[in-house]
Amino acid sequence: MSDPEDIFATPADTGEMTDAPRILVGVSGGIAAYKACELVRELRRRGCAVRVVMTAGAQAFVTPLTFQALSGEPVRTHLLDAEAESGMDHIALARWADQVVIAPATADLMARMAHGLADDLLTTLLLATTAPVTLAPAMNHRMWEHPATRASHATLCERGVRFVGPDSGEQACGEQGAGRMAEPAAIAAALLDTHPGALQDRRVLITAGPTREPVDPVRYLGNRSSGRMGLALAAAARDAGARVTLVHGPCEHPPPPGVATRAVETAAEMHAAVLEALEGTEVFIASAAVADYRPAAPADHKLKKSRDSLNLELERTPDILADVARRAEQLAPRPLLVGFAAETDRLREHAGDKLTSKGLDLIAANRVDAGRGFGDVDNALLCLWPGGERELPRQPKEQLAGELIRLIADRLAPDTNPDHPSSPQEA
Ligand code: C5P
Repeated sequence: MSDPEDIFATPADTGEMTDAPRILVGVSGGIAAYKACELVRELRRRGCAVRVVMTAGAQAFVTPLTFQALSGEPVRTHLLDAEAESGMDHIALARWADQVVIAPATADLMARMAHGLADDLLTTLLLATTAPVTLAPAMNHRMWEHPATRASHATLCERGVRFVGPDSGEQACGEQGAGRMAEPAAIAAALLDTHPGALQDRRVLITAGPTREPVDPVRYLGNRSSGRMGLALAAAARDAGARVTLVHGPCEHPPPPGVATRAVETAAEMHAAVLEALEGTEVFIASAAVADYRPAAPADHKLKKSRDSLNLELERTPDILADVARRAEQLAPRPLLVGFAAETDRLREHAGDKLTSKGLDLIAANRVDAGRGFGDVDNALLCLWPGGERELPRQPKEQLAGELIRLIADRLAPDTNPDHPSSPQEA
Protein backbone atom coordinates (compact mmCIF):
# COMPACT_ATOMS: atom_id res chain seq x y z
CA MET A 1 0.00 0.00 0.00
CA SER A 2 1.34 3.46 -0.81
CA ASP A 3 1.89 6.08 1.88
CA PRO A 4 -1.43 7.73 2.55
CA GLU A 5 0.23 11.13 2.07
CA ASP A 6 0.76 10.23 -1.58
CA ILE A 7 -2.87 10.08 -2.50
CA PHE A 8 -2.92 13.76 -3.31
CA ALA A 9 -0.93 15.60 -5.91
CA THR A 10 2.27 17.13 -4.54
CA PRO A 11 2.43 20.90 -4.07
CA ALA A 12 4.53 21.18 -7.23
CA ASP A 13 1.84 19.34 -9.23
CA THR A 14 -0.90 21.66 -8.10
CA GLY A 15 1.10 24.86 -8.03
CA GLU A 16 0.59 24.95 -4.23
CA MET A 17 3.19 27.02 -2.41
CA THR A 18 4.93 24.69 0.02
CA ASP A 19 4.66 27.18 2.88
CA ALA A 20 1.07 28.20 2.11
CA PRO A 21 -1.27 27.60 5.07
CA ARG A 22 -3.11 24.32 4.45
CA ILE A 23 -6.74 24.66 5.44
CA LEU A 24 -9.14 21.78 5.41
CA VAL A 25 -12.70 23.06 5.04
CA GLY A 26 -15.40 20.68 6.26
CA VAL A 27 -18.88 21.46 5.01
CA SER A 28 -21.91 20.00 6.79
CA GLY A 29 -25.53 20.06 5.68
CA GLY A 30 -27.12 23.44 6.21
CA ILE A 31 -28.38 26.18 3.93
CA ALA A 32 -25.27 28.20 4.87
CA ALA A 33 -23.24 25.66 2.83
CA TYR A 34 -23.49 28.12 -0.04
CA LYS A 35 -21.52 30.62 2.08
CA ALA A 36 -18.73 28.03 2.43
CA CYS A 37 -18.09 28.58 -1.31
CA GLU A 38 -17.20 32.18 -0.53
CA LEU A 39 -15.04 31.02 2.38
CA VAL A 40 -13.03 28.74 0.06
CA ARG A 41 -12.60 31.62 -2.40
CA GLU A 42 -11.54 33.96 0.41
CA LEU A 43 -8.97 31.47 1.72
CA ARG A 44 -7.58 30.93 -1.79
CA ARG A 45 -7.43 34.71 -2.27
CA ARG A 46 -5.38 34.89 0.92
CA GLY A 47 -2.86 32.38 -0.43
CA CYS A 48 -4.04 29.20 1.33
CA ALA A 49 -4.10 25.68 -0.05
CA VAL A 50 -7.65 24.46 0.53
CA ARG A 51 -9.15 20.99 0.52
CA VAL A 52 -12.83 20.38 1.04
CA VAL A 53 -14.61 17.49 2.74
CA MET A 54 -18.41 17.40 2.51
CA THR A 55 -20.94 15.46 4.53
CA ALA A 56 -23.82 13.73 2.78
CA GLY A 57 -26.14 16.51 3.99
CA ALA A 58 -23.90 19.23 2.55
CA GLN A 59 -24.20 17.68 -0.90
CA ALA A 60 -27.95 18.26 -0.81
CA PHE A 61 -27.20 22.00 -0.84
CA VAL A 62 -24.06 22.40 -2.97
CA THR A 63 -22.40 19.93 -5.33
CA PRO A 64 -18.86 18.66 -4.80
CA LEU A 65 -18.06 19.97 -8.28
CA THR A 66 -18.60 23.55 -7.09
CA PHE A 67 -16.04 23.14 -4.30
CA GLN A 68 -13.69 21.28 -6.62
CA ALA A 69 -13.73 24.22 -9.03
CA LEU A 70 -13.23 26.74 -6.22
CA SER A 71 -10.49 24.86 -4.36
CA GLY A 72 -8.72 23.41 -7.40
CA GLU A 73 -8.60 20.08 -5.56
CA PRO A 74 -10.69 16.93 -5.60
CA VAL A 75 -13.46 17.06 -3.01
CA ARG A 76 -13.75 14.14 -0.59
CA THR A 77 -17.15 12.88 0.47
CA HIS A 78 -16.81 9.26 1.57
CA LEU A 79 -14.99 7.50 4.37
CA LEU A 80 -14.30 4.36 2.36
CA ASP A 81 -13.72 5.88 -1.04
CA ALA A 82 -12.90 3.13 -3.53
CA GLU A 83 -11.57 5.72 -5.96
CA ALA A 84 -9.08 7.17 -3.49
CA GLU A 85 -5.86 5.27 -3.95
CA SER A 86 -5.24 4.19 -0.39
CA GLY A 87 -8.73 4.26 1.06
CA MET A 88 -7.31 6.16 4.07
CA ASP A 89 -8.35 9.69 3.29
CA HIS A 90 -9.14 10.51 6.88
CA ILE A 91 -5.56 9.92 8.01
CA ALA A 92 -4.03 11.65 5.01
CA LEU A 93 -6.30 14.66 5.30
CA ALA A 94 -5.84 14.82 9.06
CA ARG A 95 -2.04 14.92 8.60
CA TRP A 96 -2.15 17.35 5.70
CA ALA A 97 -4.13 20.10 7.41
CA ASP A 98 -2.50 22.97 9.34
CA GLN A 99 -6.00 23.96 10.42
CA VAL A 100 -9.44 22.45 10.12
CA VAL A 101 -12.53 24.65 9.83
CA ILE A 102 -16.10 23.38 9.67
CA ALA A 103 -18.39 25.87 7.96
CA PRO A 104 -21.25 25.56 8.35
CA ALA A 105 -21.22 23.38 11.46
CA THR A 106 -24.73 22.06 12.02
CA ALA A 107 -26.20 21.06 15.38
CA ASP A 108 -25.89 17.44 14.23
CA LEU A 109 -22.22 17.83 13.33
CA MET A 110 -21.51 19.48 16.71
CA ALA A 111 -23.34 16.67 18.56
CA ARG A 112 -21.54 13.93 16.65
CA MET A 113 -18.21 15.62 17.26
CA ALA A 114 -18.92 16.15 20.97
CA HIS A 115 -19.69 12.43 21.29
CA GLY A 116 -16.62 11.38 19.34
CA LEU A 117 -18.66 9.65 16.64
CA ALA A 118 -16.82 8.70 13.49
CA ASP A 119 -19.58 7.72 11.11
CA ASP A 120 -18.44 9.63 8.04
CA LEU A 121 -15.24 11.02 6.57
CA LEU A 122 -15.51 14.43 8.24
CA THR A 123 -16.13 13.21 11.81
CA THR A 124 -13.49 10.50 11.40
CA LEU A 125 -10.78 12.92 10.34
CA LEU A 126 -11.78 15.22 13.20
CA LEU A 127 -10.78 12.43 15.57
CA ALA A 128 -7.57 11.78 13.64
CA THR A 129 -6.28 15.35 13.31
CA THR A 130 -4.04 17.17 15.75
CA ALA A 131 -4.52 20.47 13.91
CA PRO A 132 -6.49 23.30 15.59
CA VAL A 133 -10.19 23.00 14.81
CA THR A 134 -12.51 25.97 14.30
CA LEU A 135 -16.28 25.71 13.97
CA ALA A 136 -18.58 28.26 12.33
CA PRO A 137 -22.01 27.08 13.51
CA ALA A 138 -25.16 27.78 11.52
CA MET A 139 -28.62 26.71 12.57
CA ASN A 140 -32.03 27.95 13.64
CA HIS A 141 -31.66 30.02 16.82
CA ARG A 142 -33.84 27.63 18.85
CA MET A 143 -31.59 24.76 17.82
CA TRP A 144 -28.56 26.83 18.89
CA GLU A 145 -30.15 27.53 22.27
CA HIS A 146 -31.37 23.96 22.82
CA PRO A 147 -29.77 22.38 25.90
CA ALA A 148 -28.41 19.55 23.75
CA THR A 149 -26.56 22.01 21.51
CA ARG A 150 -25.44 24.02 24.56
CA ALA A 151 -23.97 20.80 25.98
CA SER A 152 -22.18 19.97 22.70
CA HIS A 153 -20.85 23.51 22.59
CA ALA A 154 -19.59 23.37 26.17
CA THR A 155 -17.88 20.03 25.60
CA LEU A 156 -16.19 21.20 22.42
CA CYS A 157 -15.06 24.48 24.03
CA GLU A 158 -13.54 22.52 26.90
CA ARG A 159 -11.63 20.44 24.37
CA GLY A 160 -10.16 23.59 22.86
CA VAL A 161 -12.31 23.80 19.74
CA ARG A 162 -12.60 27.42 18.66
CA PHE A 163 -15.91 28.94 17.60
CA VAL A 164 -16.43 31.82 15.20
CA GLY A 165 -20.01 33.07 15.43
CA PRO A 166 -22.81 32.35 15.11
CA ASP A 167 -23.98 35.87 14.35
CA SER A 168 -27.37 37.20 15.32
CA GLY A 169 -29.94 38.55 12.89
CA GLU A 170 -32.47 37.40 10.35
CA GLN A 171 -32.19 33.71 9.58
CA ALA A 172 -32.89 31.75 6.38
CA CYS A 173 -36.05 30.41 8.08
CA GLY A 174 -37.31 33.99 8.53
CA GLU A 175 -36.84 34.00 12.33
CA GLN A 176 -34.53 36.33 14.25
CA GLY A 177 -31.84 35.23 16.66
CA ALA A 178 -28.35 33.82 17.13
CA GLY A 179 -27.58 31.14 14.57
CA ARG A 180 -26.46 32.78 11.33
CA MET A 181 -23.10 31.56 10.12
CA ALA A 182 -20.35 34.17 10.60
CA GLU A 183 -19.39 35.97 7.40
CA PRO A 184 -16.72 34.15 5.34
CA ALA A 185 -14.30 37.10 5.64
CA ALA A 186 -14.62 36.98 9.45
CA ILE A 187 -13.98 33.22 9.48
CA ALA A 188 -10.93 33.61 7.23
CA ALA A 189 -9.63 36.41 9.45
CA ALA A 190 -10.08 34.25 12.57
CA LEU A 191 -8.12 31.45 10.90
CA LEU A 192 -5.31 33.53 9.50
CA ASP A 193 -4.90 36.72 11.53
CA THR A 194 -2.79 35.33 14.29
CA HIS A 195 -1.70 38.52 16.00
CA PRO A 196 -1.57 37.56 19.65
CA GLY A 197 -4.35 39.20 21.63
CA ALA A 198 -3.81 41.16 24.83
CA LEU A 199 -4.78 38.05 26.85
CA GLN A 200 -3.43 35.46 24.41
CA ASP A 201 -3.74 31.96 25.92
CA ARG A 202 -4.38 33.37 29.42
CA ARG A 203 -6.84 31.41 31.52
CA VAL A 204 -9.62 33.71 32.59
CA LEU A 205 -12.41 32.73 34.99
CA ILE A 206 -15.49 34.98 35.06
CA THR A 207 -18.64 34.96 37.18
CA ALA A 208 -21.73 36.57 35.68
CA GLY A 209 -25.41 37.17 36.24
CA PRO A 210 -27.60 37.04 39.31
CA THR A 211 -28.04 34.18 41.75
CA ARG A 212 -31.39 32.84 42.98
CA GLU A 213 -31.76 31.80 46.59
CA PRO A 214 -34.73 29.49 47.18
CA VAL A 215 -37.46 30.49 49.62
CA ASP A 216 -39.53 27.42 48.85
CA PRO A 217 -39.77 25.13 45.77
CA VAL A 218 -41.37 27.86 43.63
CA ARG A 219 -40.02 31.15 45.03
CA TYR A 220 -36.59 32.67 45.29
CA LEU A 221 -34.77 35.83 46.35
CA GLY A 222 -33.04 37.34 43.33
CA ASN A 223 -31.88 40.63 41.87
CA ARG A 224 -32.16 42.68 38.69
CA SER A 225 -28.82 41.68 37.13
CA SER A 226 -29.21 40.69 33.45
CA GLY A 227 -25.71 39.20 33.27
CA ARG A 228 -25.00 41.33 30.19
CA MET A 229 -21.77 42.83 31.56
CA GLY A 230 -20.33 39.44 32.52
CA LEU A 231 -21.30 37.85 29.21
CA ALA A 232 -19.76 40.81 27.36
CA LEU A 233 -16.58 40.44 29.42
CA ALA A 234 -16.41 36.74 28.52
CA ALA A 235 -16.74 37.59 24.81
CA ALA A 236 -14.17 40.39 25.05
CA ALA A 237 -11.67 38.16 26.92
CA ARG A 238 -12.19 35.44 24.30
CA ASP A 239 -11.61 37.99 21.53
CA ALA A 240 -8.39 39.03 23.29
CA GLY A 241 -7.18 35.43 22.93
CA ALA A 242 -8.00 34.17 26.44
CA ARG A 243 -9.24 30.69 27.33
CA VAL A 244 -12.37 31.65 29.17
CA THR A 245 -14.45 29.76 31.71
CA LEU A 246 -17.74 31.45 32.54
CA VAL A 247 -19.67 30.48 35.68
CA HIS A 248 -23.05 32.12 35.31
CA GLY A 249 -26.36 32.42 37.09
CA PRO A 250 -29.67 32.68 35.21
CA CYS A 251 -28.89 35.40 32.63
CA GLU A 252 -31.23 37.09 30.17
CA HIS A 253 -29.04 36.15 27.20
CA PRO A 254 -27.20 32.95 26.23
CA PRO A 255 -23.45 32.81 26.91
CA PRO A 256 -21.19 33.80 24.02
CA PRO A 257 -19.77 31.09 21.77
CA GLY A 258 -16.19 30.00 22.27
CA VAL A 259 -16.13 29.98 26.06
CA ALA A 260 -16.51 27.06 28.46
CA THR A 261 -19.59 27.55 30.61
CA ARG A 262 -20.99 26.32 33.92
CA ALA A 263 -24.62 27.26 34.61
CA VAL A 264 -25.51 27.58 38.31
CA GLU A 265 -28.39 29.00 40.29
CA THR A 266 -27.43 29.73 43.90
CA ALA A 267 -24.49 31.53 45.49
CA ALA A 268 -23.39 28.23 47.04
CA GLU A 269 -23.39 26.52 43.62
CA MET A 270 -21.47 29.42 42.09
CA HIS A 271 -18.96 29.28 44.96
CA ALA A 272 -18.40 25.53 44.41
CA ALA A 273 -18.11 25.88 40.62
CA VAL A 274 -15.58 28.71 40.93
CA LEU A 275 -13.38 26.85 43.39
CA GLU A 276 -13.49 23.79 41.14
CA ALA A 277 -12.41 25.81 38.09
CA LEU A 278 -9.85 27.96 39.94
CA GLU A 279 -6.70 25.91 39.39
CA GLY A 280 -4.49 27.48 36.73
CA THR A 281 -6.63 30.63 36.55
CA GLU A 282 -4.56 33.72 35.73
CA VAL A 283 -7.35 36.28 35.91
CA PHE A 284 -10.47 36.01 38.05
CA ILE A 285 -13.22 38.52 37.25
CA ALA A 286 -16.13 38.52 39.71
CA SER A 287 -18.87 40.32 37.83
CA ALA A 288 -21.78 38.27 39.18
CA ALA A 289 -24.40 39.97 41.33
CA VAL A 290 -24.20 37.31 44.01
CA ALA A 291 -26.93 37.39 46.67
CA ASP A 292 -25.43 38.46 49.99
CA TYR A 293 -28.12 36.67 52.01
CA ARG A 294 -30.26 33.58 51.51
CA PRO A 295 -33.20 32.13 53.44
CA ALA A 296 -31.70 30.22 56.35
CA ALA A 297 -34.18 27.38 56.08
CA PRO A 298 -35.87 27.19 52.65
CA ALA A 299 -39.20 25.40 52.91
CA ASP A 300 -39.46 22.06 51.16
CA HIS A 301 -43.13 22.72 50.34
CA LYS A 302 -44.86 25.79 48.87
CA LEU A 303 -45.53 28.36 51.61
CA LYS A 304 -49.25 29.14 52.00
CA LYS A 305 -50.52 32.71 52.37
CA SER A 306 -52.51 31.80 55.48
CA ARG A 307 -50.84 34.42 57.70
CA ASP A 308 -50.92 38.23 57.40
CA SER A 309 -47.18 38.53 57.57
CA LEU A 310 -44.24 36.27 57.00
CA ASN A 311 -40.77 36.62 58.47
CA LEU A 312 -37.91 35.08 56.61
CA GLU A 313 -34.71 34.51 58.47
CA LEU A 314 -31.74 35.19 56.22
CA GLU A 315 -28.14 34.06 56.55
CA ARG A 316 -24.99 35.22 54.75
CA THR A 317 -23.95 33.48 51.54
CA PRO A 318 -20.28 32.65 50.93
CA ASP A 319 -18.34 35.63 49.53
CA ILE A 320 -16.83 34.01 46.46
CA LEU A 321 -14.42 36.81 45.61
CA ALA A 322 -13.19 37.13 49.19
CA ASP A 323 -12.65 33.37 49.34
CA VAL A 324 -10.69 33.36 46.08
CA ALA A 325 -8.65 36.31 47.38
CA ARG A 326 -7.87 34.37 50.58
CA ARG A 327 -6.61 31.41 48.54
CA ALA A 328 -4.84 33.49 45.90
CA GLU A 329 -1.47 33.71 47.63
CA GLN A 330 -1.24 29.92 47.79
CA LEU A 331 -2.04 29.54 44.10
CA ALA A 332 0.56 29.29 41.40
CA PRO A 333 0.11 31.39 39.39
CA ARG A 334 -1.49 33.89 41.76
CA PRO A 335 -4.52 35.06 39.80
CA LEU A 336 -5.11 38.74 39.16
CA LEU A 337 -8.30 39.55 41.08
CA VAL A 338 -10.90 41.85 39.59
CA GLY A 339 -14.06 42.76 41.49
CA PHE A 340 -17.10 44.90 40.81
CA ALA A 341 -18.79 47.33 43.13
CA ALA A 342 -22.33 48.48 42.47
CA GLU A 343 -23.03 51.48 44.66
CA THR A 344 -25.85 53.98 45.03
CA ASP A 345 -23.67 56.61 46.73
CA ARG A 346 -20.06 57.58 47.60
CA LEU A 347 -18.84 55.45 44.72
CA ARG A 348 -15.10 56.15 44.96
CA GLU A 349 -14.99 55.77 48.74
CA HIS A 350 -16.92 52.48 48.89
CA ALA A 351 -15.05 51.03 45.92
CA GLY A 352 -11.67 52.06 47.36
CA ASP A 353 -12.55 50.41 50.68
CA LYS A 354 -13.57 47.20 48.88
CA LEU A 355 -10.38 47.17 46.81
CA THR A 356 -8.34 47.17 50.03
CA SER A 357 -10.54 45.03 52.27
CA LYS A 358 -10.92 42.25 49.68
CA GLY A 359 -7.26 42.44 48.59
CA LEU A 360 -8.10 43.05 44.93
CA ASP A 361 -5.87 44.09 42.04
CA LEU A 362 -8.61 46.09 40.35
CA ILE A 363 -12.15 47.10 41.11
CA ALA A 364 -14.70 48.35 38.58
CA ALA A 365 -17.31 50.49 40.26
CA ASN A 366 -20.57 51.73 38.88
CA ARG A 367 -23.49 53.70 40.12
CA VAL A 368 -26.76 51.86 40.32
CA ASP A 369 -30.16 53.50 40.32
CA ALA A 370 -33.22 53.40 38.07
CA GLY A 371 -32.00 52.97 34.48
CA ARG A 372 -28.32 52.82 35.35
CA GLY A 373 -25.93 50.01 36.15
CA PHE A 374 -28.15 46.95 36.46
CA GLY A 375 -30.05 45.32 33.61
CA ASP A 376 -29.98 45.78 29.85
CA VAL A 377 -28.63 49.32 29.82
CA ASP A 378 -25.46 51.27 29.05
CA ASN A 379 -23.00 51.67 31.85
CA ALA A 380 -19.98 53.69 32.99
CA LEU A 381 -17.20 52.45 35.25
CA LEU A 382 -14.73 53.97 37.65
CA CYS A 383 -11.78 51.55 37.77
CA LEU A 384 -9.45 51.68 40.75
CA TRP A 385 -6.29 49.73 41.41
CA PRO A 386 -3.56 50.17 44.02
CA GLY A 387 -1.93 53.44 42.95
CA GLY A 388 -4.10 54.29 39.96
CA GLU A 389 -7.51 54.83 38.48
CA ARG A 390 -9.32 55.29 35.19
CA GLU A 391 -12.84 56.38 34.29
CA LEU A 392 -14.48 54.49 31.45
CA PRO A 393 -17.28 56.70 30.12
CA ARG A 394 -20.87 55.62 29.59
CA GLN A 395 -21.21 53.29 26.59
CA PRO A 396 -22.83 49.96 25.65
CA LYS A 397 -21.65 47.18 27.96
CA GLU A 398 -20.05 45.29 25.05
CA GLN A 399 -17.70 48.23 24.31
CA LEU A 400 -17.13 48.84 27.99
CA ALA A 401 -16.14 45.19 28.38
CA GLY A 402 -13.51 45.57 25.63
CA GLU A 403 -11.99 48.58 27.43
CA LEU A 404 -12.02 46.84 30.79
CA ILE A 405 -10.34 43.75 29.33
CA ARG A 406 -7.56 45.98 27.90
CA LEU A 407 -7.13 47.56 31.32
CA ILE A 408 -6.98 44.12 32.94
CA ALA A 409 -4.37 42.96 30.42
CA ASP A 410 -2.28 46.01 31.34
CA ARG A 411 -2.61 45.25 35.05
CA LEU A 412 -1.52 41.67 34.40
CA ALA A 413 1.86 42.86 33.21
CA PRO A 414 2.12 46.60 34.00
CA ASP A 415 5.90 46.51 34.24
CA THR A 416 6.27 45.19 30.72
CA ASN A 417 4.23 48.04 29.30
CA PRO A 418 5.51 51.20 31.04
CA ASP A 419 4.34 53.55 28.26
CA HIS A 420 0.76 52.56 28.54
CA PRO A 421 -1.44 55.35 29.90
CA SER A 422 -2.98 53.04 32.49
CA SER A 423 0.38 52.20 34.08
CA PRO A 424 0.82 53.13 37.75
CA GLN A 425 2.96 56.22 37.24
CA GLU A 426 -0.02 57.94 35.66
CA ALA A 427 -1.91 58.01 38.93
O1 C5P B 1 -19.07 43.28 48.89
P1 C5P B 1 -19.79 43.37 47.62
O2 C5P B 1 -20.89 42.35 47.48
O3 C5P B 1 -20.29 44.73 47.24
O4 C5P B 1 -18.67 43.02 46.53
C1 C5P B 1 -18.97 42.94 45.17
C2 C5P B 1 -17.97 42.06 44.50
O5 C5P B 1 -17.84 40.83 45.20
C3 C5P B 1 -18.41 41.70 43.11
O6 C5P B 1 -17.23 41.53 42.36
C4 C5P B 1 -19.13 40.38 43.32
O7 C5P B 1 -19.13 39.58 42.15
C5 C5P B 1 -18.34 39.74 44.43
N1 C5P B 1 -19.13 38.91 45.34
C6 C5P B 1 -18.89 37.53 45.39
N2 C5P B 1 -19.59 36.75 46.26
C7 C5P B 1 -20.53 37.29 47.07
C8 C5P B 1 -20.78 38.69 47.03
C9 C5P B 1 -20.07 39.46 46.15
O8 C5P B 1 -18.04 37.04 44.65
N3 C5P B 1 -21.21 36.52 47.89
